Amino acid sequence: MASIIGGIGTSHVPTIGLAYDRKRQDDPAWAPLFDGYKPVAKWLEEQQPDVLLFFYNDHANSFFFDCYPTFAIGVSPEFDMADEGAGRRPLPGILGHAKLAAHVTDCLVNDEFDMAVFQDRALDHGCNSPLGLMWPHEPAWPGAILPIAINVLQYPLPTAKRCYKLGQAVRRAVESFPEDLKVVVVGTGGLSHQIHGERTGFNDTDWDEEFLRLFVEQPDTLAAMTHAELVRRGGAESVEIIMWLAMRGALSDEIRCVHQNHYLATTTNMAVAVYEQMEESGPAAAPVKERANEQLAGIEEIDGTYAFDVAHSVKALNLNRFFWRHREPAFRDLVTRDIDAAFEELRLSEEERALVRRQDWLGLVRYGVSFFVLEKFARVQKMSNLQVYAHMRGETLEEFLQTRRVPASA
Ligand code: FE2
Repeated sequence: MASIIGGIGTSHVPTIGLAYDRKRQDDPAWAPLFDGYKPVAKWLEEQQPDVLLFFYNDHANSFFFDCYPTFAIGVSPEFDMADEGAGRRPLPGILGHAKLAAHVTDCLVNDEFDMAVFQDRALDHGCNSPLGLMWPHEPAWPGAILPIAINVLQYPLPTAKRCYKLGQAVRRAVESFPEDLKVVVVGTGGLSHQIHGERTGFNDTDWDEEFLRLFVEQPDTLAAMTHAELVRRGGAESVEIIMWLAMRGALSDEIRCVHQNHYLATTTNMAVAVYEQMEESGPAAAPVKERANEQLAGIEEIDGTYAFDVAHSVKALNLNRFFWRHREPAFRDLVTRDIDAAFEELRLSEEERALVRRQDWLGLVRYGVSFFVLEKFARVQKMSNLQVYAHMRGETLEEFLQTRRVPASA
């Protein structure tokens, strides 16, 4: 079974990544920051986690305000690094752990945390700025990442208490995963800083020290603070420390800090800390679940029915995207003119191409295609939904219509 073996709290300011990419680790101005990460890297090397579960926020790089999720979990076999306007950082892409992430998603939603799910969206500095300092990554990262994005940009934000409870739910979810995995939970952000308005440049390192103490000893006190109180104490953008509270919730009630450093170089008091648990994560905590989505218990017994779930969505992402893109006139033209070029653009496998070529509607659904993208393809192929329904039932259109009360409605 999977277990949580510790936690890391870390700032994620982009300047950390920039200074790292410019190899300024020994620059006297930056050395106190980088030195603070060396014990973290050593701890991770000793612990050898399989997965780093990151509570982070996206800074309008992979998500935009037209649809900005409060909580979103990344379920994907791999993640790229985002281009935030100055080019992609020279870091390798990182493996995801789609199976664990799908399990955690099922558990969280059944635990009434209704997560948005993202797949191949790139990770921005919320993840990658501290990641490079903590984990060796040439030629590849030593493990996988499970990213959980929390909205800390656009009010209303989730409350500190809600983030704390999310962490507790994540712990229950991880501990119920049947495979042996070692998971370290990372909470990113802050500490004190403000980077907008006349109060730009605000810091309060006394508050930061108090926060770090309360974080270990009295997380409930922090979880009860409002966003305005957090902003008053630490500056507007320090409200992102609610992501540390998500990490805190995923740890045992009693923890010990085994390393802590903070350094105020420019505008953010950049902290990093490592926490070990007084009670280890273990099988007594949560029963192992072979089926994490309890809502689907018994679904297999319902003939001719295929639940479109996250696991199928991950498997068939490119294929679903092929059909979804039929909303675009240019792509519809391409499919009509040169379907192989369209297949190539979406990197479809031979099996997927064959299913499309055969217009095997039932086969496509069984494979993991959502009907609601499939019907867009049907429009381009001049098929009505009724014809597709009949095909899936192995009937002619006429036979299918005879089973309807208003057959002429076709
Ligand atoms: Fe941030």
